[in-house]
Amino acid sequence: MRLREVTAAVETMAIIETAAKLDVLGHLTANPRSAAEVAGALRLDRIATARLLEALTGMGLLRELAGGVFETDTEANDRVHALTGLWRALPTVVRTGEPAVRAVTATGAAQLYPNVVPMLSEWFAPAADRFAAELSPWTGRVLDVGAGAAPWTIALAARNPDVRVTAVDFPAVLSQTRRAVTAAGLDQRFDYLPGDALDVTLPAHDLAVVGNVCHLFDAAHNQALLAKLHAPARRVAIIDVLPSTDPAVSRYALGLLTRAHGGAVHPLSAYENWARHAGFAGVTPVPLTQDPPLTLLLCA
Ligand SMILES: C[S@@+](CC[C@H](N)C(=O)[O-])C[C@H]1O[C@@H](n2cnc3c(N)ncnc32)[C@H](O)[C@@H]1O
Repeated sequence: MRLREVTAAVETMAIIETAAKLDVLGHLTANPRSAAEVAGALRLDRIATARLLEALTGMGLLRELAGGVFETDTEANDRVHALTGLWRALPTVVRTGEPAVRAVTATGAAQLYPNVVPMLSEWFAPAADRFAAELSPWTGRVLDVGAGAAPWTIALAARNPDVRVTAVDFPAVLSQTRRAVTAAGLDQRFDYLPGDALDVTLPAHDLAVVGNVCHLFDAAHNQALLAKLHAPARRVAIIDVLPSTDPAVSRYALGLLTRAHGGAVHPLSAYENWARHAGFAGVTPVPLTQDPPLTLLLCA
């Protein structure tokens, strides 16, 4: 056992669980308070509360302001609740194989993604930059399948003035796509298509981007998606995690089962198979970043 890492992980989990359970972050959302005030309001021990707030500050979940007061923002609080909620379901998931939320349905995506996709987009920013550099120069219509906060197509559109994007996602998530696009100053270059990418009629496009979606689908659904996206001279750019010996990847593969029934870290050979069956000549893998461990899989 790697005692140091396991100890740090258990401590971190217990601290976050405690903060979530006692609603400490909720209490400090846009409401700066000292440790003594938090302890008083939530009927907690003063010394233990002060240490909890310091530990949460060390993790970047709280900010300590002048005068010894702490605060956080709504997004940090929502994200912690979204993440802890999913992982708390793990014992049931391991017992039954049933996910806590079905991320590939409109209802599941509405529960899971509106708070999470902005965080993913921040995390993916360096990979999105590499992705855009790899595909540029590009002109024409681009489809963003399961767009979320659109990190990939925002980066591509920002570099290429003649790119026009249609973002496909469930309605509850598309509101976050719009926010991200507006924040990037790209409103005039994006259109939105609400619905299930496997069901909706897709507009004409030259490039389809499928970022971190294939790991939510089983083999049959990935096969169907690639068959739907295939057309002569069209490229499909998949961004996803491939199997590796990195322990973070095995944790990630386990976590996928909390939110997607057939979800998996699919091997390159599986993507090659689906792409060939769909009519593509092959798949070229291009590593993007190691942390997170993302690869661009270019189907042409
Ligand atoms: C892990 S997030 C990735 C978001 C974004 N592409 C990124 O890389 O940051 C998966 C996204 O796929 C969307 N999604 C899942 N199943 C879908 C489906 N069947 N049709 C359309 N969107 C879907 C979810 O709503 C969510 O926004």
